[in-house]
Amino acid sequence: MNKLSKENYIFDIEPDKYIDLEGYRAMGGFSALKKALENEPSVSIEEIKKSGLRGRGGAAFPTGIKLEMVRKNEETKRYIVCNADEGEPGTFKDRFIMRHLPYQLIEGIAIAAYMVGASKGYIYVRHEYPEVQLKLRESLEALKNAGLLGNNIMGTGFSLDLHIFSGAGSYLCGEETALLSSIEGRKGRPRVKPPYPTQSGLWGKPTLINNVETLANIPRIIEKGADWYASLGTENSSGTKLISLSGDVNNRGIAEVPFGITFAEIIEQFGGGPLPRRSVKAVNIGGASGVLVPPEMLDTPLDYNKCAEVGITIGSGAIFVLDDTRSIIKNVQNRVKFFLHESCGKCTPCREGLRQIDGIVEDFLEEKAAKSDIESLERYAVTMQQASFCGLGQAAGNSLVSSLVHYRKEYEEACVNDTDDVEKKA
Ligand SMILES: Cc1cc2nc3c(=O)[nH]c(=O)nc-3n(C[C@H](O)[C@H](O)[C@H](O)COP(=O)(O)O)c2cc1C
Ligand code: SF4
Repeated sequence: MNKLSKENYIFDIEPDKYIDLEGYRAMGGFSALKKALENEPSVSIEEIKKSGLRGRGGAAFPTGIKLEMVRKNEETKRYIVCNADEGEPGTFKDRFIMRHLPYQLIEGIAIAAYMVGASKGYIYVRHEYPEVQLKLRESLEALKNAGLLGNNIMGTGFSLDLHIFSGAGSYLCGEETALLSSIEGRKGRPRVKPPYPTQSGLWGKPTLINNVETLANIPRIIEKGADWYASLGTENSSGTKLISLSGDVNNRGIAEVPFGITFAEIIEQFGGGPLPRRSVKAVNIGGASGVLVPPEMLDTPLDYNKCAEVGITIGSGAIFVLDDTRSIIKNVQNRVKFFLHESCGKCTPCREGLRQIDGIVEDFLEEKAAKSDIESLERYAVTMQQASFCGLGQAAGNSLVSSLVHYRKEYEEACVNDTDDVEKKA
């Protein structure tokens, strides 16, 4: 169950292989788009809903429901946007898709555009991926020449004008509303939700915004059917997931795994386990905004609901292994500094909370902290989770909070003594 057979891969390629248009068509590429265009959009939307596909950008929102919300909007001018900002540290799976299988992604975008009735769209690609942008631009050109993109696709009357938009180099621009503002030529800052992009997105029009991996799943679902797709995963987490595996393991890279596999199995089967004479101390799951998990929890299956029950956020599917040579506090500090750098400063809990946390974490590393500082860290992190304006601040304290639950002893041991803060820091 936890190994995929060859015919069940969604991203069926070897790591170094680039599939060009000819190769992709030889694999059956664009037959899903043809099939979708032969039917009413609602037929494909039902198929996606039935497949149970959930967004792979982090929030795991059901994709079929999002498609339907845009489709049913009374406004007829609609947009499609592919979120290829891939800013989450430790995540590199969207780059893998765009580098190796750009045509599968674009076919998915075209099918999704047809489903929601969008005739114009953007792929918002991370500024740090210039070679990917080039490859995608070439792919769009090749598809237009082949009559598979642009005006009157396959002679069906459906048209899609698709553009590459280079990101603004900010982590926050991956947040969907900040991303839309960035395309509109404004500062990449988050907007109030609701209204959601499905109601009022790009230039106030209903907009479908999905992650690269989400959209690249669509052709295979349309081609092989919702039942096949749902059979690959678990009841509430269907299909497969691309994992970006890094850190202290023998093999780092991308793995495609079926939902239901455990984290321990991923680390062993794909990562080849910890480095020689080392053991796993902690695993960061979900990137900088994810959590730190001790080895005892690694038998948890990769499943949105089961992970949520034990406080694990799968997020974008980044897994970073820390072995017994690592300091948990130092690792947390890296994440805090990252968020401090990326916070836009608009709201107080995130702006000030991160500054306070950064100072206290520094005290722990310099052996200047007192036991009472542990409670202060907890208080700041929880306030940020509950009161920040956007997802950045709401998730920025996740690894800190989980480290205080599972590795509290490390903080306690780093405290000098129980004297009060004034005396200690003098
Ligand atoms: C601070 C922040 C950064 C984000 N960065 C990304 C990103 O780089 N790529 C992405 O697909 N989603 C990112 N998201 C999630 C998006 O806001 C949005 O949920 C996603 O594009 C929806 O697509 P999906 O339903 O296919 O997952 C980010 C969210 C937040 C709060
Ligand atoms: S939570 Fe942070 S990033 Fe988000 S709006 Fe507030 S200050 Fe900006």
